[in-house]
Amino acid sequence: MGEKVKALIDKLNTDKQLGKDEWVCVFNEYDEDDRAYAAQLARELSLKKYGNKIFIRGIVEFSNYCKNDCIYCGIRRSNSCAQRYRLTDEEILACCDEGYDIGFRTFVLQSGEDKTYTAERLAELVRAIKKAHPDCAVTLSLGELEYEEYKTLRDAGTDRYLLRHETANKEHYQKLHPEEMSFEHRMECLRQLKELGYQTGAGIMVGSPYQTAECLAEDMAFFAEFKPHMIGIGPFLPHKDTPFKDMPKGSYELTLFLLSLCRIMLPSVLLPATTALGTIDPRGREQGVLSGANVIMPNLSPTAVRKKYMLYDNKICTGDESAQCRGCLERRMKSIGYEIDISRGDYEQ
Ligand code: 5AD
Ligand code: FES
Repeated sequence: MGEKVKALIDKLNTDKQLGKDEWVCVFNEYDEDDRAYAAQLARELSLKKYGNKIFIRGIVEFSNYCKNDCIYCGIRRSNSCAQRYRLTDEEILACCDEGYDIGFRTFVLQSGEDKTYTAERLAELVRAIKKAHPDCAVTLSLGELEYEEYKTLRDAGTDRYLLRHETANKEHYQKLHPEEMSFEHRMECLRQLKELGYQTGAGIMVGSPYQTAECLAEDMAFFAEFKPHMIGIGPFLPHKDTPFKDMPKGSYELTLFLLSLCRIMLPSVLLPATTALGTIDPRGREQGVLSGANVIMPNLSPTAVRKKYMLYDNKICTGDESAQCRGCLERRMKSIGYEIDISRGDYEQ
């Protein structure tokens, strides 16, 4: 009993891939023992590759205006309860300066799809950040743009781009998004980002409505083929002002298991213990690290706007100052025998 999934985890460790039926079997049949087995293996792999060091990235959520209407998301355009805000270029720069002083060497600028920030304007901003802090990496997470816009931003010195694919199954994608959004376009964006030389992040929500073991199998196959430099995985958490408000949240344990499987399949991948993971369980980020994660991305946004960037209910750290989060993470990592690494933390094969 239970040996089947362990054998598949071993096979994944050796071959760095599994067939679709094998993945489906893993997701349908794993138990707590298998999960612990995968976590142990994943932790050994991340210790071997990255030691007991955890990279930190500071996220500046600079606008919660969004032209999109993803059904799951709290800042979707149809949510008229959301209090919208935009930070000025000066405010964004000030967040980075503050972040620099408390030890961040990667800044992640994230927003809804807000066209008032044109590629030219953002390129200017990226150049300004790079000029002020030449030793830092800049990551953008702005959703789907045109190839020319991605190129403008890359030419301005942007190092990385995060765009979760959300699901590798087209039918599932359509159930999570309004009709005007296209699965093909999202995947096309990811290929363009990689082609332009960005360190590229993809990712999913675990337990998003209508997700099946087959969907997850396709996500793992997509990761194996696309080989993202970073994989963002967090549990789906409902937001009270969205059509998915009564949908059950994703499984905490399955999220941890997926982190471990990603680490085993792609040993060098940058794998954050996400804010959603820290929201679903108070020790979620620690458990994420113990399951193979090696990155944490705390918030650098001004406290005044933090509660407004609510993708899901009860998001953590919305009342804290950036320096508090920095100290808090230091302690949390120490408590499990890990240390914060303040270098840029680039992807290395
Ligand atoms: N629960 C969990 N994660 C969410 N995201 C958006 N809405 C939710 C939600 N309700 C994730 C998406 C998106 C990322 C920025 O946040 O995966 O790509
Ligand atoms: Fe923000 Fe702990 S990380 S308070």
